[in-house]
Amino acid sequence: MPDAVFRHEEDELTLPAYVGTEGEIGVDIGNLRASLGVVTVDRGFANTAEGASSVSYINGEEGILRYRGYPIEQLAEQASFLEVAYLLQYGELPTIAELGAYEDAITQHTLLREDVKHLFEAFPHSAHPMQILASATSALATYYPDALDPLDVEAVDISSRRLIAKTPTMIAWSYKYGVHQPYVYPDNDLDYASSFLRMMFAVPAEDYVADPVVTRTLNMLLILHADHGQNCSASAVRLVGSGQANIFSSVAAGIHALSGPLHGGANQSVLEMLTRIVESGDQIETVIKKAKDKDDPFRLMGFGHRIYKNFDPRAQILKKAAEDVLTALGVDDPLLDLAMELEGIALSDEYFVERKLYPNVDFYSGIIYRAMGFPTDMFTVLFAMGRLPGWISQWRELSADPDTKIFRPRQLYTGSPERSFVPRQDR
Ligand code: ACO
Repeated sequence: MPDAVFRHEEDELTLPAYVGTEGEIGVDIGNLRASLGVVTVDRGFANTAEGASSVSYINGEEGILRYRGYPIEQLAEQASFLEVAYLLQYGELPTIAELGAYEDAITQHTLLREDVKHLFEAFPHSAHPMQILASATSALATYYPDALDPLDVEAVDISSRRLIAKTPTMIAWSYKYGVHQPYVYPDNDLDYASSFLRMMFAVPAEDYVADPVVTRTLNMLLILHADHGQNCSASAVRLVGSGQANIFSSVAAGIHALSGPLHGGANQSVLEMLTRIVESGDQIETVIKKAKDKDDPFRLMGFGHRIYKNFDPRAQILKKAAEDVLTALGVDDPLLDLAMELEGIALSDEYFVERKLYPNVDFYSGIIYRAMGFPTDMFTVLFAMGRLPGWISQWRELSADPDTKIFRPRQLYTGSPERSFVPRQDR
């Protein structure tokens, strides 16, 4: 690949160019300031790759998402979530023996230390599960001080397993605490999804067996959310990790980043938006008009994506799954009909067409979670549970890379020039 040339006034600098596996070109601007005193400005990092990554590939123009080269459609249809967690971290699909050993290793770590219960109990019952999950994830580091060194591969491996094993328990317990029900312990005879569903929905007074449709759907939803390149939360995890913070602290940062309504929090916002439309009796046209009005902060939640400018392949799978799952569970939800209608109208509206705004992963996921029995404020923690292997894989990739540097963006200072301190009485 020929190098690129940067010109500014009289100066010229040759910049090395690299090519990714799929032909993308990256120009390395790392020496620009040192050589010419110039920094680059890139709001929201829309055009900046911090470095290389081999975890997942996204082509937003063609609507492609692959984990380690495998198309998301094939993984969602045929793999188990723990198989995908293994693939993302270690780069290859596990053999039957490797998968069995990995599942056993995860199963050994599903319990939380009993003291962790006190942590849940320190929160108000109304606390949002994302806040509890971030705090509990952060707290885990204090229980395992022997396995926190980011440069010790064995320690990273065990901490990663602990995180994947304990997160469903933490999520289910945050729910149980919120609804004043006793905590249900993990059942290690069950698969990952079934054990989580049991911790969520079982009560000691009755047996609970998860509906196989619900278990299968949860497995698929977790896989669809498992990684998505250098998104906001993965970048937060990598940024914190670049300072060699431990994996629990780094992942806790990712959970906080995911909670925002422009990111993972959108799945909750979509359902709240659909519910508001039904309850208010507003016409869909009024809602679309509001979303297009630049003086109104309202956006059509679940629409638009920084990368996908054609379609979001995850949303396509979920749209079909929403119809199938609701039929299989015998749920008739007016919100699904409304979502379909809203999507149809938005996709034929010039505003959305011109800006290439399509439904994203969050548009249909909430309707499926709701049909499965999850309350609305649990939607974003379910996203976090799915995204966990991606965060871990991104963090591991960064920590193992000898060329990693602490993330430290430059800035273009536009504040006051130097001025002298004014004593209080003279201001
Ligand atoms: N409704 C109405 N208008 C929108 C929407 C929307 N959902 N999304 C973008 N636009 C408009 C913007 O107002 C802007 O219009 P303009 O060019 O006339 O100013 C244009 O489309 C481009 O939007 P940006 O905000 O510049 O695009 P960006 O890539 O920065 O943002 C984002 C992407 C945050 C996802 C945005 O589309 C959005 O806010 N969507 C709604 C929230 C959402 O669903 N988030 C989940 C994303 S998926 C995920 O994180 C898991």
